[in-house]
Amino acid sequence: MNIIVFGGSGGIGAALLEQLSRRFPDATVFSTWYMSPPSDHLMKSVRWSQVNVTSEQSVQAFAGQFDKVHWLINAVGMLHRASLEEQVKLPEKSLRQIDADFFLQNIQTNTLPTLLLAKHFEFALKHDERAHFATVSAKVGSIEDNRLGGWHSYRCSKAALNMAIKNISIEWRRRLSNVCVTALHPGTTDTALSAPFQRNVPDGKLFTAQYTAACLVDVLSSLSAADSGKFLAYDGQELPW
Ligand SMILES: NC(=O)c1ccc[n+]([C@@H]2O[C@H](COP(=O)([O-])OP(=O)(O)OC[C@H]3O[C@@H](n4cnc5c(N)ncnc54)[C@H](OP(=O)(O)O)[C@@H]3O)[C@@H](O)[C@H]2O)c1
Repeated sequence: MNIIVFGGSGGIGAALLEQLSRRFPDATVFSTWYMSPPSDHLMKSVRWSQVNVTSEQSVQAFAGQFDKVHWLINAVGMLHRASLEEQVKLPEKSLRQIDADFFLQNIQTNTLPTLLLAKHFEFALKHDERAHFATVSAKVGSIEDNRLGGWHSYRCSKAALNMAIKNISIEWRRRLSNVCVTALHPGTTDTALSAPFQRNVPDGKLFTAQYTAACLVDVLSSLSAADSGKFLAYDGQELPW
């Protein structure tokens, strides 16, 4: 069994790797990082590659080494630019804060990679065994659930991601009928991505990455290809697109 987690250097991605390695001790687990080298404790159990998932060339070169993949999870994403090297940019509170470069960076990081991964891993996902193609999305990408507004770039990029997931599930329904394609909402999780926004999270609603990963693996384990095309929260609840 081959498992790949894209973005294993991130908070949720690293916890998914720990969880998957524990649950599937016989599986070969692969992962990718881009700017942040992976944690030491995951060096032995995981096969790492440096991949820029926003670059088709980089995705294609990485995909070329796989004949068969059973679980592919994309845990790459961005909400803000708060690193020291770059100009700090937080998600927009109002339209006045729209910045074209930041908007495009959100689309490039949150939306495009899932389409590139679907294109280049189609070959390796097409087989007779059960397979997963899942991306960590966000409930704020739900158009129907949007009551607060704001965070324009992130919300738009995750709504577009959700459309991509739905589209992939439709295209693969006949051709890759073994694959369950899903968008996952992890819940608010204590990682670098959510760090600037944790103050107003209600008690008990800020999850550890370990808890989130365990929930997401439970959800995926309970699904079959008949569930393909769903947007699911960490607790298994189906969310409106
Ligand atoms: N944390 C939350 O509360 C929360 C809530 C809802 C949804 N989500 C979603 O969950 C996913 C994971 O988020 P997280 O909280 O784990 O964030 P995180 O800790 O900031 O991790 C982000 C990951 O994305 C990778 N990445 C970014 N740009 C990349 C690129 N161009 N190529 C390859 N990898 C790239 C990073 O890799 P490098 O650092 O190595 O570049 C890192 O592994 C995201 O899609 C996020 O939107 C998170």
